[in-house]
Amino acid sequence: MKYLILSDIHSNREALGTILSFVKRKPWNKAVFLGDLVGYGANPNQTVEMIRKMRPLAAIRGNHDKVCSGLEEGELFNRMALEAAMWTRRKLTAPNLKWLRALPEGPMVVDGHFAICHGTPLDEDAYIFGELEALNVFRHTDFPVCFFGHSHFPVIFALSPDSITTILTVAPSFRFKLRPGVRYLINPGSIGQPRDGNPLASFAFYNSDSKVVTIHRVPYRVEQAQTKILEAGLPRPLADRLALGR
Ligand SMILES: [Fe+2]
Repeated sequence: MKYLILSDIHSNREALGTILSFVKRKPWNKAVFLGDLVGYGANPNQTVEMIRKMRPLAAIRGNHDKVCSGLEEGELFNRMALEAAMWTRRKLTAPNLKWLRALPEGPMVVDGHFAICHGTPLDEDAYIFGELEALNVFRHTDFPVCFFGHSHFPVIFALSPDSITTILTVAPSFRFKLRPGVRYLINPGSIGQPRDGNPLASFAFYNSDSKVVTIHRVPYRVEQAQTKILEAGLPRPLADRLALGR
């Protein structure tokens, strides 16, 4: 099975549309979404509808999906994130709001092949930034392969019997074959708001037969997404950061 792994879309229709066109030439069997479909960007309904249409789909919620759909009030959000979340809540149609509220909490095991979560399998709101957090997750879970999002940073953590390794992806298309006896935590990066200093939209494929992960970076019309954010009256830094990848 070839899985299309998508995360942290954040209402960025331009980025998601570009990725969906890009993968038309690369057949896949199932879409997998790691949460944060909305929040920050200017097209929440359009992005929800684009993902809702994908079949087959395995999807979980992210922290922004909870606040934007009213499941939580965002006490821990910074001012800009909260402002964008409340704007998003007002804009979402009733059916899209209902669909978002029904997204399950991770972790979820997909077809017996791998697990998915938003932040970590232990806490959907927690972050895995580096090896210490990754090691803590490895110690308290037993998934051989788990895809995660939330940090908006494409990275692979590999736990072998004697060490933990960080694999950073720098190429526009990075190919990595998983090895037997090694456990993995894999972040495909963010489609709608990359934060690794590279503004290109990021996503992954995973082939569960060949055990190969590929992480792709794709340029999209950043200026158009920025213009929409400003026209919607959302905070300017939310537009500025898209061009910086931060
Ligand atoms: Fe996010």
